[in-house]
Amino acid sequence: MGVLNGKVAVVTGAGRGIGRGEAHLMAAEGASVVVNDVGGEWDGQGQDTRPAQQVVDELEAAGAKAAANYDDISTWSGAESLVRQAIETFGGLDIVVNNAGILRDAMIFNMTEENWDAVVKVHMKGHASVTHHACAYWRGKAKAGETTSGRIINTSSEAGLYGLKGQGNYAAAKAGIASLTQVTAREMKKYNVTANCIAPRARTRLITNTFGDTVMAAPEQGFDVFAPENVAPLVTYLASDASAHISGQVFVVMGGLVQLMKPWEAGPSIDNEATWDVETLAGQIDKLFDGAKSSPE
Ligand SMILES: NC(=O)c1ccc[n+]([C@@H]2O[C@H](COP(=O)([O-])OP(=O)(O)OC[C@H]3O[C@@H](n4cnc5c(N)ncnc54)[C@H](O)[C@@H]3O)[C@@H](O)[C@H]2O)c1
Repeated sequence: MGVLNGKVAVVTGAGRGIGRGEAHLMAAEGASVVVNDVGGEWDGQGQDTRPAQQVVDELEAAGAKAAANYDDISTWSGAESLVRQAIETFGGLDIVVNNAGILRDAMIFNMTEENWDAVVKVHMKGHASVTHHACAYWRGKAKAGETTSGRIINTSSEAGLYGLKGQGNYAAAKAGIASLTQVTAREMKKYNVTANCIAPRARTRLITNTFGDTVMAAPEQGFDVFAPENVAPLVTYLASDASAHISGQVFVVMGGLVQLMKPWEAGPSIDNEATWDVETLAGQIDKLFDGAKSSPE
């Protein structure tokens, strides 16, 4: 018995890398999987049906039920078509893994409008669009008196959670995805839908194209910490019924590590109990840091 027996999952960007590993493990655990991938280059240019189709062929060869989808999930209509395909092909939808992504790195002073828009569109709007259509489906079922449950697993990045330099478009979108996860978890709680988020680290073309082949290289022997497949067990668990009590959380995941991220939380404060004058504020503001760093490295 797999932990996802009878479930229907969509995984965006599952033609390669981390998403491919997630599709494989979820299928091995019994899910029927719609493998979405537009099949573009790492920077989002072009399209190709072969990556998604190849993963479907692999899943079917292993005895799983799978279907390919080539829609661009960064549009509301592409996401709608993906969700509809899952429902029409496999009779429903239980799990959404938002994973598709691209990179176009630049310092903010070199960032073009086109590269800002392209990255924010695929990551942030791409997450929102599939989440929107899936949640509308689950809410519609609840309104019709049917029992509902759903699982959403989003994909953030430590670049967004820590604010890495050189990736302003990507980091802003990924931080937004962590926030969208918390909002979705709150909005969908009454429909038994959970939303969680991972920030993975794995050797994929996004990494090798950015940092070269030697960073995160596979060891000649021993545990391959950065193998993309290592991300899939946490995602599969978060997709299962057993994770119903966990929602709105962000986890860093790589190798055998699963690390819970603390959300933004209120820190020290000062209160003048009246409008500050700037000079008084300047004299008091360092109390907020109490010896801690007041600017990044
Ligand atoms: N690899 C890492 O270390 C790392 C770290 C942090 C976050 N991530 C995130 O993990 C996710 C997966 O990335 P990966 O490393 O496996 O990269 P990858 O390039 O191997 O896979 C991403 C897939 O998404 C697909 N895709 C891109 N735009 C799409 C669109 N509009 N519609 C449908 N499919 C689309 C691509 O064709 C590609 O197959 C991304 O969201 C990425 O930002 C990866």
